[in-house]
Amino acid sequence: MPTILVTGANRGLGLEFTRQYAADGWMVIAACRDPQAAGDLQALAAGSAGRIRVIAMNVADTASVQAAAASLAGEPIDILLNNAGVGSPAGKTLGSLDYAAWLKVLDVNTLGPARVVEALVENVARGERKLIVTITSRMGSIDDNASGGSYPYRSSKAAVNMVVKSLSIDLASRGIACVLLHPGWVRTDMGGSSGKLTPAESIGELRKLIAGLGPKDSGKFYNYDGKEIPW
Ligand SMILES: NC(=O)c1ccc[n+]([C@@H]2O[C@H](COP(=O)([O-])OP(=O)(O)OC[C@H]3O[C@@H](n4cnc5c(N)ncnc54)[C@H](OP(=O)(O)O)[C@@H]3O)[C@@H](O)[C@H]2O)c1
Repeated sequence: MPTILVTGANRGLGLEFTRQYAADGWMVIAACRDPQAAGDLQALAAGSAGRIRVIAMNVADTASVQAAAASLAGEPIDILLNNAGVGSPAGKTLGSLDYAAWLKVLDVNTLGPARVVEALVENVARGERKLIVTITSRMGSIDDNASGGSYPYRSSKAAVNMVVKSLSIDLASRGIACVLLHPGWVRTDMGGSSGKLTPAESIGELRKLIAGLGPKDSGKFYNYDGKEIPW
């Protein structure tokens, strides 16, 4: 049975990834900041016949990520899915930029995936799929930026795109592929109620795409429909 580790698994896209992979027979290591407060995830895990294991991991806290990794030492992970993320806080427009809040966004969205990969790369090397997927955003595409603003979120996602590009090069010799995916505009707490896709639709499409990913895709940035997004 293949294993996937999902960060930010307690709500939104992470919860839906967890639901769909577990329903499909995968073992899911569902990482979230506060397992005690993760009611929906705990309920899903309780009905999963042991396929969902909930663990604590705050991707903005190196000690927390390392402790989670220590608890998984030696276990193969087929797919490592960096999903946890935060949107732009208040203070995202020119003239009222909140630099402390911006740094927090970078800490979660850019440094978070780097922390998680550094801590768990040996687990991925032991897996059969050897795949690291990072959920980024089209808002991190410099080419696609026609509306400006959103400085914290846009810069955090553009920067994580570069992190993953470097990972794809550094991990190629170990046969580990690193891919960036945009989930579409999805109706979650972050995406809001006007999003074009439900979480079920977005994750359904992403799972089809992920099923076919391999070394040929490493270092690429794809939309949920499989089309490449320009940097
Ligand atoms: N929704 C969209 O339209 C959309 C579009 C493009 C890209 N994305 C990306 O998709 C991913 C998931 O977004 P979403 O829409 O599901 O957002 P969401 O509903 O706001 O959920 C965000 C998830 O990330 C977790 N998280 C935040 N900070 C964390 C930290 N320091 N450590 C661990 N977990 C943390 C949250 O946990 P807590 O409950 O503990 O806060 C929550 O589980 C993000 O990377 C986002 O940038 C979303």
